[in-house]
Amino acid sequence: MMIDTHCHLEDYENIETIIKNMEGNKMITSGVNDETNKEVVKLINQYPNVYGVIGIHPSEVSISNEKSILWIEEQLNNKKIVGIGEIGLDYHYGIEEKELQKQFFKKQLELARKYHLPVVIHSRDAIEDTYQILKEFKDLKIILHCYSGSVEMAQKFLKLNIYFGIGGVVTFKNSKTLKEVVKMLPLDHILLETDSPYLTPEPFRGQKNEPKNILLVAQTIAKIKEISVEQVLKTTTINAEQQFDFNKTL
Ligand code: NI
Repeated sequence: MMIDTHCHLEDYENIETIIKNMEGNKMITSGVNDETNKEVVKLINQYPNVYGVIGIHPSEVSISNEKSILWIEEQLNNKKIVGIGEIGLDYHYGIEEKELQKQFFKKQLELARKYHLPVVIHSRDAIEDTYQILKEFKDLKIILHCYSGSVEMAQKFLKLNIYFGIGGVVTFKNSKTLKEVVKMLPLDHILLETDSPYLTPEPFRGQKNEPKNILLVAQTIAKIKEISVEQVLKTTTINAEQQFDFNKTL
């Protein structure tokens, strides 16, 4: 079985085909704001092998408010909401929102703590601040989605027992650092993800990504770590099942 631990399924016209292509496998679709969080709830109620995480993404804080968080909290009794995400910090465009981003980030980490749920973290151009905040929440199950930092930083996160979502970027020819990170990371701290419809792996770059391409990510990781694809799939599936409770009881 394969588990795509991070994708955005609200964005497909041919959703039935996308789901069918993942028959026998699981997907976790992620919200980023009020609108997409609602889509996540719709999708998980409709498709048995689709699970969801909901949250306010750092780039969406200016269009979100207190009510957004309250709505998220109300959904947490849905058995198929398996975590809070994607949440975090993104200073690429939004440096003027630094403080607001941190507020939303911490509030949602507190929510995850209260409900014993894992968190899926987005961090872009903000790795040091992300680390400083997560240090205070190391009791949580934390997944760094689409990790793009250095080997040294990855080692620091590993010491907090944080898991790493590895996706299509690892297949890119110019992803030298990420390949080094993957080589260093123990397989038992790696989760597979596609971030569909974005970050399509080689050799399909330029096309719209979809969860079934998770296999290409697994193949690349196998090559880097000089192990079999079967071993990558088996171990990363176990990891995903340890981080996310797919048989959530309330
Ligand atoms: Ni994403």
